[in-house]
Amino acid sequence: MNPINKPIKKEYFLENYFEKKPCVFKGVYDTKFIDQHEIEDIFNRSDLMSFEGIKLMYNGILDKSEYIESYSDLGIERHRYIYPKLYDYINSGATLVANGVINEPKIDFISKYFASLTNSQAFSSIYLAYGDKGSFKSHWDSRDIFVVQLTGKKRWVIYEPSFTDPLFIHRSVDMENTYPCSSEPYSDIVLEEGDVLYLPRGWWHNPLPIGEETIHLSVGVFPPFIHDYLSWFFNRITDFDIGRKSLSGSWDDAKNKIKELSEFIELQLSSEDIYNEFMQSFNAEKRVASKLNLDLFCNGKKRLQLSGKHLRINSNNNLSINSGYIICNGTKLYLDPISLSLLKIIDENYYILYDDLMSYFNNTKHKQLEELIYKLSYQDILEIVNG
Ligand SMILES: [Fe+2]
Repeated sequence: MNPINKPIKKEYFLENYFEKKPCVFKGVYDTKFIDQHEIEDIFNRSDLMSFEGIKLMYNGILDKSEYIESYSDLGIERHRYIYPKLYDYINSGATLVANGVINEPKIDFISKYFASLTNSQAFSSIYLAYGDKGSFKSHWDSRDIFVVQLTGKKRWVIYEPSFTDPLFIHRSVDMENTYPCSSEPYSDIVLEEGDVLYLPRGWWHNPLPIGEETIHLSVGVFPPFIHDYLSWFFNRITDFDIGRKSLSGSWDDAKNKIKELSEFIELQLSSEDIYNEFMQSFNAEKRVASKLNLDLFCNGKKRLQLSGKHLRINSNNNLSINSGYIICNGTKLYLDPISLSLLKIIDENYYILYDDLMSYFNNTKHKQLEELIYKLSYQDILEIVNG
């Protein structure tokens, strides 16, 4: 089942909203996809003890010892919620947060949609509350987020940025006096089940429960940034003659070297080849959670049965397909014409049903394509998802 009821048009989104302004997309997510009990199980499977894994927000971040205990399980140290304490806090209005959720197939499924939409890596967190008490004051985040309202409703008061496009080194709590929040809201909305709010980084927001249950998924997206391009380039400056010169004298001695350096850098940074080299290097580092398919690939008695299954490329940034190659989970693959046309269609459709994919091709090609899909999936280039 595909949880994205009404896909957002990628080009339209990138041109009109991405890194520009917030937007609510109504009814994008199919609320039948995950039920509340599945969410509770994710909270129980999360990394309870890491600082980032689980947080309970109640006038700030509560100390873990308030609601989590450790115990010895036949010599293995394990952790669990102290349920009555957790219930007390949540009944008093606390918000429970699972941060950096990964390898939870249903959450991965949604997260990867927004990662693909923005050609970015994703970082997903789940927020749960039942009361009417705000657990967060107005703040901004240093990553663009997609807020998917999984259950219930939540009010969002949004203000324009006072410091634009902050990055991971910036925190609103450190900067709120220098760059204070406007007193005039930009918008004041109630997000309903199935809605998605896109909020660019730097936009102030105050999420407020409205006295009923609210569970939302926040998908933060991380595209390559300008500073990544510069860091990558400057890390290799010593590969070039000009990058190995000294600056031992006065300005008069140095100015010609600096001029030569500036011209060299300008030429390099504005080269398409250098840009593509950076992108390859950047994407080669990235990994995408994908389904482990032992039964299909290791159980020799199994026959490949693709009908009714969905396919996705195991990379969030597939712009290189047009240049004839793809990089997925650390593997770079040059594409022959048939792989190229297959992957292009999959990329354009996000998760595509195998049967729909085949409708793009002549019947005589289906057997060959099935074998190709098997090989690409074995190599972790494609993901095959049931249903
Ligand atoms: Fe936030």
